Amino acid sequence: MVQRLGYVGLGVSDIEAWERFATEILGFVTSGRADDGTLYLRQDSYHHRFALHPTAEDDIVYVGWEARGEGELQQLAERVTAAGIDATFATPSEATARGVVELLRFEDPGGLGHEVFFGLANIGELFVPPELEGRFRTGELGMGHLTLHVTDHDKHVEFYRDLLGMRRTSTRRLPEGAPIDAVSSWRCNRRHHSVAILGMREPAAQRLAHFGLHLNDIDDVGVAYDKAQDAGVVAVTLGRHQGDQVLSFYATTPSGFQVEYGWLGREILDDAPIDQVVGPPSKWGHRPVTSSREDNATFSAARGVTGVSRETET
Ligand SMILES: [Fe+2]
Repeated sequence: MVQRLGYVGLGVSDIEAWERFATEILGFVTSGRADDGTLYLRQDSYHHRFALHPTAEDDIVYVGWEARGEGELQQLAERVTAAGIDATFATPSEATARGVVELLRFEDPGGLGHEVFFGLANIGELFVPPELEGRFRTGELGMGHLTLHVTDHDKHVEFYRDLLGMRRTSTRRLPEGAPIDAVSSWRCNRRHHSVAILGMREPAAQRLAHFGLHLNDIDDVGVAYDKAQDAGVVAVTLGRHQGDQVLSFYATTPSGFQVEYGWLGREILDDAPIDQVVGPPSKWGHRPVTSSREDNATFSAARGVTGVSRETET
């Protein structure tokens, strides 16, 4: 069983653009570089939550989940292996590179690497990133959430439910002809979802649709919205979701996938019923912005940001 989204590894083609985007717009603090050029980004008291590897996939390359307890790892290894999936414990030096004490690795049905760990490196200061009024809403809720494109929705349901031990918060089936056949959101603590899966009828270009960051102070979302507009990277306007009730906007990252930047959000009790979503996903807002590559490049050059010139997905 996992209890929090702990860290994410991204493979990116333009680390410098990412460093500017993450620190100037999103409010992250850089937390050092590894010898291979990997850039670490700090969000809270932990050493890092994001590792940006200069490996050019422009996609998520692994996800780290915090185990409920250290004894969970061996049980999980047995459960994963019994399901016919290879699971391996990282060597001590591999675990150190991730900033954890111990971790177990295996892949989901789509081939994305999952790492279940305990002992995330904690610097321990009461940390407010200097660009922000308040803190990222992390702690026991985990670092945020992920929304992933998958091609076999129901196989991934088995993976998150039966192997990682997560609970489904909401689910939706779409009619024939839609590019997505099913969507579901999954929680492992009171956060409405730590991962959502979009079941695509055809494979998407990237596994990661977006990652979500949650802020405690609404002004941090407003200020980041202004900065993202200045940089020409807003992909979806400010709006409020029906499901998790997060007030958020979406920006296009230098890797082309999006980041959702949001305030608060509804917390879910452990025994809450599963919502079958049939209405619109947002109460208001969340309208797609179509900005051309040239528009983005012009705005980015004005801010001294390079590499954020990819077209939005909308
Ligand atoms: Fe989201």
